Amino acid sequence: MPTLTAEAPAKLNLTLDVLGRRDDGYHDLCMVMQSVALSDLITLTLGGGGPLRVKTNLSFLPNNEKNLAAAAVLAFQRETGRDAGGVSIAIDKHIPVCAGMGGGSSDAAAVLRALNGALETGLAPLDLARLGEGVGSDVPYCVLGGTALAQGRGEVLTPLSPLPRCLVVVCKPPFSISTPELFRAVDGVRLRCRPDTAGVLSALEAGDLEGVARRMYNVFEDVLPPRQGAEVRAIRGELVQQGALGACMSGTGPTVFGLFRDWDQAEAAREVLGRTYRDVWLTETV
Ligand code: C5P
Repeated sequence: MPTLTAEAPAKLNLTLDVLGRRDDGYHDLCMVMQSVALSDLITLTLGGGGPLRVKTNLSFLPNNEKNLAAAAVLAFQRETGRDAGGVSIAIDKHIPVCAGMGGGSSDAAAVLRALNGALETGLAPLDLARLGEGVGSDVPYCVLGGTALAQGRGEVLTPLSPLPRCLVVVCKPPFSISTPELFRAVDGVRLRCRPDTAGVLSALEAGDLEGVARRMYNVFEDVLPPRQGAEVRAIRGELVQQGALGACMSGTGPTVFGLFRDWDQAEAAREVLGRTYRDVWLTETV
């Protein structure tokens, strides 16, 4: 039985703007997305019949089609009409769960890429991305990866000039935030501050890392519950204090990240935050 391995890199939101609520209950978004090296590792075993199986190194994650990696297999088989003849998925999780880093979506995207290769379906990246839409709003971006603008529900993608390579310190405080609740909170307020997406796009075009970093902003930071908001701001402040070119919350949080040029400063930031938080990583853009 063929066994395939695939890396599933985490994503960060360099910007996140909510433009409005739609009739289908989703929201129109405008986000600049970036992949980082921190990745889950997926092993797929094809053939051998039997039911679709998922196992992970984290016992609390679903092992059925509620796991986006399994949902991706079903969507792929349904949309392409190809049957892998039995699929077992093993996921070695490294991306923090429920953190705003797209871990589940990236696992699903890695499964789609792997099946597209192994079953020789030959779907172009944008077609494969479209196939991921029904699995989750962030799956299409995760299929493409790199630096991209995501609009609509998240599925309307425009590849962008890559963010100049840099180091990224990522810190996940020990609480989780409900994505639907945060969307509801955004619906209930008039946002005071929006990201300068056009400025970020120009800075990317110019290869201006500092220009991107100082414009990073996520509107969800404004509607966090007070205690969680204070903690996110404190982590952001610490990253900047340690020399980050800019810092921001990713997705619906609570992960906060900072961009660095200098290894010593990034390492110091990781060390200082690591005294308070267990989930701190030093990674890089890919
Ligand atoms: O598509 P996905 O399952 O990842 O979305 C999870 C939830 O996030 C949705 O049920 C919805 O409440 C919210 N969401 C939204 N608008 C988007 C993406 C997600 O309101 N563009």
